[in-house]
Amino acid sequence: MDALVKFTSQSQGRDRILRATQYACALSVYLLRNNPNNKDLVAKLKSLESNMSAGRKLFRLGNTANSIEAAKRTMQLSDRVLCLCLTAANVTRALYFICDNALWARNIDLIRNINKERWSLHAHRFYFFSLVMNLTRDVYDVVHLMVQNSRDKQFRQKMHEHLNESPDVADVVIPQLDALLYLLLHTLKSHPAVALDTLKNICDLFIPLDRLGIYPSNTGVVGFCGLISSLIGIVTLAQPTLRIKP
Ligand SMILES: *[C@@H]1O[C@H](CO)[C@@H](O)[C@H](O)[C@H]1NC(C)=O
Repeated sequence: MDALVKFTSQSQGRDRILRATQYACALSVYLLRNNPNNKDLVAKLKSLESNMSAGRKLFRLGNTANSIEAAKRTMQLSDRVLCLCLTAANVTRALYFICDNALWARNIDLIRNINKERWSLHAHRFYFFSLVMNLTRDVYDVVHLMVQNSRDKQFRQKMHEHLNESPDVADVVIPQLDALLYLLLHTLKSHPAVALDTLKNICDLFIPLDRLGIYPSNTGVVGFCGLISSLIGIVTLAQPTLRIKP
């Protein structure tokens, strides 16, 4: 089991590159769709996209174990909110991978007696819930850091200077709102790991929102958001200081 967990963490980089390519293809197909000259190219991109998606599925077989291990770790966190959000996120992520693996087995005819649509719906629901839990954690982190910042004397001074520098903005717009926005932007700027994770989760959210029909967008939006989130995933893998902890 340990070896499996280790192997899947190592293959994360590969998965993110395949994922970035998959969504880049989806986005290109969307952008090129109306031009009849591009028919061949679009067909090639579509086939590349489905190959990427299929290739990723094989390497995701160990991810269920990986998520369960992660859930065991996050259960030990002393912060109650973090413990609850991250454990729920990891458990539902494990359930998502179980559905995902079952669908993969169904696609290659390894198993026959599962209902594809139902399992696919379950997979998207688990993925969606996991993302919402991750985002709740991000919001919790941001609010926590904002409160910390607002108590900091130096920071308060800087904020007052900023608000006095642009009095028209402060006069016209409600001053509290301006201060809050300033506080939020500065918090995100000084904690890029939290900012990136939040952006990544928001981008990811568009995918299940579309698939579940809660907020239908189009393949262009899904491709774009998937690409951005995959690129953030690559950046945080290459630069561990930009990765949110725990
Ligand atoms: C939720 O966050 C964890 C830890 O940052 C991450 O490993 C996991 O992939 C995220 N879940 C989803 C569905 O993106």
